[in-house]
Amino acid sequence: MTAAIETENLRKRYADVQALDGVSLSVPEGSFFGLLGPNGAGKTTFINVLVGLVRRSGGRAEVFGHDVEDDYQQARDAIGVAPQEFNVDRFFPIREVLEHKAGYHGIPEAEARERADRVLERVGIYDKRDTRFDWLSGGMKRRFMLARALITEPDLLILDEPTAGVDVQLRHDLWDLITDLNESGTTILLTTHYIEEAERLCDEVAILDSGSLLTVATPEELMDRGPDRITVTLRDPPASAPAVSSLPSVADADHDVESVDVEGDQLVVTARQGGLVAPDLVRDLDRDGHEIIDLDISRTSLEEVFVEMTREAEGDDAGEADDEAAADPEPAVASDGGERP
Ligand SMILES: Nc1ncnc2c1ncn2[C@@H]1O[C@H](COP(=O)(O)OP(=O)(O)O)[C@@H](O)[C@H]1O
Ligand SMILES: [Mg+2]
Repeated sequence: MTAAIETENLRKRYADVQALDGVSLSVPEGSFFGLLGPNGAGKTTFINVLVGLVRRSGGRAEVFGHDVEDDYQQARDAIGVAPQEFNVDRFFPIREVLEHKAGYHGIPEAEARERADRVLERVGIYDKRDTRFDWLSGGMKRRFMLARALITEPDLLILDEPTAGVDVQLRHDLWDLITDLNESGTTILLTTHYIEEAERLCDEVAILDSGSLLTVATPEELMDRGPDRITVTLRDPPASAPAVSSLPSVADADHDVESVDVEGDQLVVTARQGGLVAPDLVRDLDRDGHEIIDLDISRTSLEEVFVEMTREAEGDDAGEADDEAAADPEPAVASDGGERP
């Protein structure tokens, strides 16, 4: 099957910044794919190469088998994109903006009008159809960006931080909407730094940092890479932490135990795949005559794994300031005032 997105050794160099440093990525058709990374990682550049706003410096990039430069129109027609920055013609009623967009993609006038109404309804701003973009509230602007991405009924929907700075209600509305789209077959590429969002929505995530892919995995696989915390409350807690070697089942070679500590009246074991270690821990403690009052396993979050991975890669330098305006590669048609967080 042709991948929705396929890149090989994709590179982009701006004057002195290597924004993409050899990215090879395959996004399967029909998937809900997350592209995660700190500010400046290269996410927006990656998207802009796909939609033809930025020329790659090297490598290959295809959308449903069409090269994004050599077969620009075919590749572009397959994509609906809701960009991070608002680049909207603000002087026309939003319904007209949608009709223009549809016309540009070769959709006949009557159908363009129907589609415009349909997508405005879908994102919940149909009653604002005669309003200029400028006059919409921040949340409505976000909804409109999604409507515009949907007007061509794209097979690939790309959302660049669609929920940055939006309120909880809108975030959940957007999640429901894109989940529905994905269930009806649309491939989704979502960039976000809300880890909760990736965890909840994505089948697969790629972590990008300084233009390089650190990993591609399911959220579940990533969470398995970080240690879980097993906390056991005992009737008679030991005065000092038992050595792992004194817990024969826990010491099993199949387990990856990081530490065993006593914290107050609780025994805390840090181990990968804590759900598999816990039964053996119970067995060992029971064998030693301990009575267990309570047991709790808390899993590593995707957030912790993400922070850990990007920190390792950047030498403690991951927490860059929010500076997205400066990182925007193409000037927006309309620069926007107070909408971003
Ligand atoms: N037009 C540009 N000119 C110069 N540098 C740019 C331009 N666009 C982006 N960059 C730089 O490329 C890197 C990646 O930026 P970007 O793709 O916007 O990252 P992200 O979307 O992950 O925050 C950053 O260091 C950014 O400053
Ligand atoms: Mg960006």
